[in-house]
Amino acid sequence: MAAKMSHDELLKPTLHVEALLKASPPAPHINQEICAALAERLKEDYETVTIGQRLNGFDGMKHCALLLEVEIADYTGPEHKTGYFDLQNNQLDVQAYSLTSDDTPDTRRTIDQTSADEVPKTRILTLPHSFLNEAWTSLVFDDNLPARLLRYLVRMLSMMSQPGLNLSTFNWNRLCLLHGPPGSGKSTLCRALSQKLSIRLGNVLPNAILVEINANAMLSKYFGESGKLIGGTFERIHSMAQSRSTLVCVVIDEVETIASLRSKSTSGSECNDGLRATNQLLTSLDRLRNLPNIIVICTSNLIDAIDSAFLDRVDIKQLIPAPSPAAIYNIFRSCISELVRSSLVDSSKPATPPPPPSTPPNRTTRATNNNKSKKRKLAPARTDPEPASSSSVDSSWSVVSQPEIIPTFSEMKVKYESQPASPACRIWLLAQRCHGLSGRTLRRLPILGLAMYTWGGLVDLEEAVAALEAAVEQELMVVKGGT
Ligand SMILES: Nc1ncnc2c1ncn2[C@@H]1O[C@H](COP(=O)(O)OP(=O)(O)O)[C@@H](O)[C@H]1O
Ligand SMILES: [Mg+2]
Repeated sequence: MAAKMSHDELLKPTLHVEALLKASPPAPHINQEICAALAERLKEDYETVTIGQRLNGFDGMKHCALLLEVEIADYTGPEHKTGYFDLQNNQLDVQAYSLTSDDTPDTRRTIDQTSADEVPKTRILTLPHSFLNEAWTSLVFDDNLPARLLRYLVRMLSMMSQPGLNLSTFNWNRLCLLHGPPGSGKSTLCRALSQKLSIRLGNVLPNAILVEINANAMLSKYFGESGKLIGGTFERIHSMAQSRSTLVCVVIDEVETIASLRSKSTSGSECNDGLRATNQLLTSLDRLRNLPNIIVICTSNLIDAIDSAFLDRVDIKQLIPAPSPAAIYNIFRSCISELVRSSLVDSSKPATPPPPPSTPPNRTTRATNNNKSKKRKLAPARTDPEPASSSSVDSSWSVVSQPEIIPTFSEMKVKYESQPASPACRIWLLAQRCHGLSGRTLRRLPILGLAMYTWGGLVDLEEAVAALEAAVEQELMVVKGGT
């Protein structure tokens, strides 16, 4: 029987700590011991922490040999100004988890193979999965959008397990729709949210699976049969969710394919397959409503093409916009850092000219406590690391710990914006020009630029930025030429 989240736990400001374990999941009691020991150790060793901070130095702690990585993942509570969280006044929610890696994306289990001629279009992945480990940190959004969505979903699901709650009183589907332009990160975010949900709710729902429905493939492949196929798929999801200790995250990508406007299907004389698909989807979703351990996350590029009866069932409709210039800066920054990390670009030459003497000291190094210095008992000084939660764009970036090849967005604004020749400022100028391009395109440009505009061998940072400038120029020319 799944544990219930107490009322108190929902109310206290909480720091969420994620502890990645080395091996396969330990027995539940060992897992609990790890969480308890970690909570105790953190309170002993740290006065304050920041979101995104990675911690180590747990030698001597019970089961410490099992720990791979400990991260202060998130905070739930009233708005916090400084970004430094006091461990004495915040409740700690420690989740220890291991990543599954046995079923790779290509060999994922399928659930809709009822006959030999049916190509499976629904796939299952056990969560948390190593394949999805980078999804969360790879996305850059403004306003802490992924963390905010995660909190809504966690709260939705934890309220469902409130003892005595009569589910039939509420028209509550646990249905979330992420909509926005193509390439804005919707599909990635769905999977990342599922992964994070499985970790965050680990003590409430110890098992978790992701069921991915490729709506597009389902409809095109099974023309005339899609209603039946959708019904059958949801029937099986329904039975999988009978184990109330299993979180079932259903992701329906490009949902407009099977939830299209019924008014369109009924007009005209063509087959009304779409109409039947939509009807079946609505009926199937209604059947899932009474299962408290299911959440359905859908994506769509075309919210206007979605049937109003479907939209009416959606609890959270979230626009996922194309990245803002600040987010674009951070996307380029992460791409260039990766090129340097993988030695395609050489950053040994000074990347950024030294700041003018009057500027403040470097504020971008996070208090990672890697050296286990005694300092970790001290509250970080104000001139120390920039709190990760203060700016979402920086915070989503700052969880990735790597050398500061290109400065953070706020450091760039303070130190380099007035130095147009610095790589940081040049990247910022590019980011502003790229507003409107999709995340997918943006993530391609730095490496595409390198392939197209450099000759091989070791490329230095200046050349990499110049190649990016050329790639952006080319892309913008195509976009403008195409419209
Ligand atoms: N906001 C973003 N931040 C970082 N990368 C992004 C973002 N949006 C998209 N991407 C990149 O583009 C790729 C495609 O995104 P995807 O999730 O398929 O978009 P969508 O489903 O909205 O079309 C992702 O793998 C990611 O690398
Ligand atoms: Mg998509």
